[in-house]
Amino acid sequence: MGKIEGVSISVIKRLPRYYRFLGELKEQGIVRISSKDLSARMGLTASQIRQDLNCFGGFGQQGYGYNIESLYEEIGKILGVNKTRNAILIGAGNLGKAVALHMSFEARGFNLIGVFDRNAALSGQILRGLPIRHTDGLYDFCKDNSPVVAVLCIPSGAAKELTPELVKLGVKGFWNFSHYDIASDFPNIAVENVHLSDSLMTLSYKISNTY
Ligand code: NAI
Repeated sequence: MGKIEGVSISVIKRLPRYYRFLGELKEQGIVRISSKDLSARMGLTASQIRQDLNCFGGFGQQGYGYNIESLYEEIGKILGVNKTRNAILIGAGNLGKAVALHMSFEARGFNLIGVFDRNAALSGQILRGLPIRHTDGLYDFCKDNSPVVAVLCIPSGAAKELTPELVKLGVKGFWNFSHYDIASDFPNIAVENVHLSDSLMTLSYKISNTY
């Protein structure tokens, strides 16, 4: 796996899980946790956690463990979820609707400001408090509102057509549910692919190798 700013992708991929765990502990009113306890809860070794956090300067104190509130905040800052980035969602079909309705964008540093679909029959319907807009208005909307992230819930052919336009309009990152491989055509654009079927196949592997 590669690196971003000298930090390996596998470490970066573990950060959301730390953030989620620490958030849950914070909710429970727990103030601090030993590295041993944190590692046991997370199913990682204490040295793995230390190594991961050392990539960013390290946060534990010998004999004290971790202060949950401050570690949560620091990891939030590293992930950038303390910022607010404007995002648009394209494709308000079954998947797009589910993503729009169930994803807590704001808690993750994103502000969903527009939803687009090329199906005129959907135009004007309200989704998550936003009107579904026709893609004809995408150019003007992006010029006026400068979204930096696009969530793609459209078929791969549509995504392949639309991505160059969105990049030209200033989109810097894609949360990509389509099966179009954005990264191979746009290596300098931030892309996070989500393939639920990959997760299902991983489950299949685990079952195949367990029983
Ligand atoms: P759907 O057919 O319910 O919705 C697709 C929506 O995209 C429609 O409303 C359609 O009008 C719109 N659309 C198509 N081309 C467009 C364009 N150029 N601009 C704007 N809107 C456009 O399909 P569903 O179930 O929502 O799935 C959408 C895509 O996501 C599918 O291609 C599917 O392969 C993919 N998918 C990916 C998953 C994943 O885990 N990554 C899981 C499920 C679906």
